[in-house]
Amino acid sequence: MRQTPSLAAQRTPVSVLGLGAMGRQLARCLLAAGHPTTVWNRTPAKADALIAQGALRARTVADAVAASPLVIVCVLDCEAVHQILGPDGAALSGKALVNLTSDTPERNRQTARWAAEHGIAYLSGAMLVPPTLLGRPEATILYSGSHRAHTEHEITLKGLGGRAPYLGADAGTATAYEVALLSLYYAGLAGMVHAFALAGGEGIPAEDLTPHLDAILGHFPSVAASMARDIDTGQYSGDADVLAIHTSGLAHIIKASQGHGINTDVLRAVKGLVDRAIAAGYGDAEFASVIEKMRE
Ligand SMILES: NC(=O)c1ccc[n+]([C@@H]2O[C@H](COP(=O)([O-])OP(=O)(O)OC[C@H]3O[C@@H](n4cnc5c(N)ncnc54)[C@H](OP(=O)(O)O)[C@@H]3O)[C@@H](O)[C@H]2O)c1
Repeated sequence: MRQTPSLAAQRTPVSVLGLGAMGRQLARCLLAAGHPTTVWNRTPAKADALIAQGALRARTVADAVAASPLVIVCVLDCEAVHQILGPDGAALSGKALVNLTSDTPERNRQTARWAAEHGIAYLSGAMLVPPTLLGRPEATILYSGSHRAHTEHEITLKGLGGRAPYLGADAGTATAYEVALLSLYYAGLAGMVHAFALAGGEGIPAEDLTPHLDAILGHFPSVAASMARDIDTGQYSGDADVLAIHTSGLAHIIKASQGHGINTDVLRAVKGLVDRAIAAGYGDAEFASVIEKMRE
């Protein structure tokens, strides 16, 4: 009688190099999905808990590479990727290498060129989630680079994050989306901290302000859609609001902040941009027009 193969036997073996907060969670997701999972980390002790959960320990990078047709690397930056994998390029030949390490688009393209020289199917991934959300159906990881690697391993990759779109053959593209989206994230976080600081200066606890944040954040999707249209066409209509109003609003916020001794570096940078755009003739245009000065 034919035996039904075990779940692990049906799943692609995967090696994970780099067991920081993200790498450990990636390995946990793979183990949970039944993949034979080999792990390696520069500091070996970080693998101990995963070994206890069923992962296989690789003593060397070469052992980790040899263990699986799919190798995932998730470390600090691309320089660390090259330090780790540089000597093992030939051993990776014919395998899929998925680099989930954050860096710049150009450094990813350099890594892709190195991979191409060794016949490696190189896929770059940009994880747009914290470790706690990895593995969820709604978690987004953007991919670009080798289409073959994405197609062959799509099911495995979707186990790491259910939203796993392929953005094209240029390995820098996923990272380009990542740095663009993270620039929104960090500027937004700085704005949020400033909002709490200013409210606190007025004696308003952060938790009292929080229920009202949505009055601002809720507009963002529609603002983004209309801003994107304006930016792509280069037409900043000024139908809704204009820079002349924004500079006045920013001046009030800066003055109120200074009254409480709150740092205004971020807001003054924004106002400076708006004022330079006004000086360049965009006073009657919408906020999106500051991109003309930002590009300088
Ligand atoms: N944490 C997040 O929320 C998040 C979200 C999205 C993307 N990311 C990106 O995911 C990547 C990993 O982040 P993480 O949070 O897992 O970082 P982490 O917890 O700080 O771990 C860093 C990992 O990189 C390894 N490493 C650093 N330099 C190395 C080198 N020269 N040679 C070998 N290994 C080296 C570390 O090894 P040791 O253990 O030996 O130090 C560790 O495994 C980063 O590119 C990060 O930007 C993180």
